[in-house]
Amino acid sequence: MTDGRTAALPESDRILIVDFGSQVTQLIARRIREAGVYCEIHPCHKVDASLLASFAPKGIILSGGPASVTLEEAPRADPAIFAQELPVLGICYGQQLMCRQLGGTVEPSTHQEFGRAFVDVTDDCALFDGPWRRGGREQVWMSHGDRVEALPPGFRVVGRSDGAPFAAIADDARRFYGVQFHPEVVHTPHGADLLTRFALTVAGCHGDWTMAAFREAEIKRIRAQVGDGRVICGLSGGVDSSVAAVLIHEAIGSQLNCIFVDHGLLRAGEAEAVGRLFRGRFNMPLVMRDASGLFLERLAGVTDPEEKRKIIGGTFIDVFEEEAEKLGGAGFLAQGTLYPDVIESVSSFGGPSATIKSHHNVGGLPERMSLTLVEPLRELFKDEVRVLGRELGLPQEMVGRHPFPGPGLAIRVPGEISSEKLEILRQADAIYLEEIRKAGLYDAIWQAFAVLLPVRTVGVMGDARTYDYVCALRAVTSTDGMTAESYPFDHAFLDATATRIINKVRGINRVVYDVTSKPPGTIEWE
Ligand code: XMP
Repeated sequence: MTDGRTAALPESDRILIVDFGSQVTQLIARRIREAGVYCEIHPCHKVDASLLASFAPKGIILSGGPASVTLEEAPRADPAIFAQELPVLGICYGQQLMCRQLGGTVEPSTHQEFGRAFVDVTDDCALFDGPWRRGGREQVWMSHGDRVEALPPGFRVVGRSDGAPFAAIADDARRFYGVQFHPEVVHTPHGADLLTRFALTVAGCHGDWTMAAFREAEIKRIRAQVGDGRVICGLSGGVDSSVAAVLIHEAIGSQLNCIFVDHGLLRAGEAEAVGRLFRGRFNMPLVMRDASGLFLERLAGVTDPEEKRKIIGGTFIDVFEEEAEKLGGAGFLAQGTLYPDVIESVSSFGGPSATIKSHHNVGGLPERMSLTLVEPLRELFKDEVRVLGRELGLPQEMVGRHPFPGPGLAIRVPGEISSEKLEILRQADAIYLEEIRKAGLYDAIWQAFAVLLPVRTVGVMGDARTYDYVCALRAVTSTDGMTAESYPFDHAFLDATATRIINKVRGINRVVYDVTSKPPGTIEWE
């Protein structure tokens, strides 16, 4: 597979984040970008003098990490990081590492600190401003077992907590700073101020990285990559592929052809909405192929969730390839890959994590058709893609949509699927989402959907006995889909929604609400 990307960097200032495997490293990047500064995360073992020279950051942040710097095998920072005369901010493990590598000492602490703590700001420094002024007392999020015992030459203490006498340290002359706590998480309410201050004031970044600038730069980059070649793009109706397609269309017009494969596992009205938006509003060349018959045929009798995913992924590729060939071939494939998929993070477990679900994607296509990838969203987080979508004129209903899985309703009908069950589910799901929108709750929820259980229960409607399916409702809050909490609806909302579903949808006579968080559950039922 060719990546096909020219390693062009934005012209704006950049911060480099060196990842030592913290669960929250991505949040550092988000906070820095929220300050209008472009940044990238690179795994610690890849950061050396040559990467520093090519990336040319104005400042470096060392992330936290699960290891203990007191161990011989713990990951280290390349000495080049401290030799560039660039500002460095060490967070948690990053702070300890900086201390140890620059001549201080770090010891395992008898007083471990996890969770909420308070830092007293004991002295001013260039990193501190606003609430972070001498005499201030700030809530912070701590998570550490080791602690700094002696500072390297040049450093002084600027903040203390009960468990960490060196909670914040500074060497203004070299512009090296370290914090024992995590400023990137929301549990450190004024933590983002520190990161902004580091990027803008200490490192001197301009904070001029905006979505409008990104759009302009990316359009130039797409034109340079594609030349007069042809690009095909699989539109799913989701936010990522839609934003990618509109951006590429803006760059190369009719050299882009979009293909929408209707696998028959979509929600009510979805295919029509895609047609209206892209053909109608954006005037984009779009092939719409109804392949629902083929997908249902191949899924007949299949009950295993992973088997369903494999069949759907494989069939999608077959149909897509067929349509692409009809279009007369293309050299490039557009994909809505996002930054979290690209970051090669340092695994805390020293290896790849267990596959819980094989998320469906079209990964096989580029090799099979020898296509070069065009991935204009590779540097963006999901919320940034939404901002870009708005910038490109995509309507809010599209840009603010809940995520929808590639295999669609197939994984929301546990067990064997049938067109009858899919139709029942579509109706229930549409009512549920309509009620959520009416109640003004759509944007407060990460994802909400109905699941049709392969269970029939006895009910009574009018004077008659019923024996129909159970519908489960699911709604979760989440920031990245990795963990999730069930949404705490009012009982009255659930009551009204359940009554409406049972009254309107033939085939359902019982509704339950799923209150499982993730973990231990997953968001989808399969
Ligand atoms: P789980 O169920 O793993 O879901 O907690 C996390 C997020 O991923 C979505 N999901 C999928 N997306 N193909 C996809 O494209 C899949 O096979 C798939 N399975 C789950 C899910 O909707 C949620 O947003």
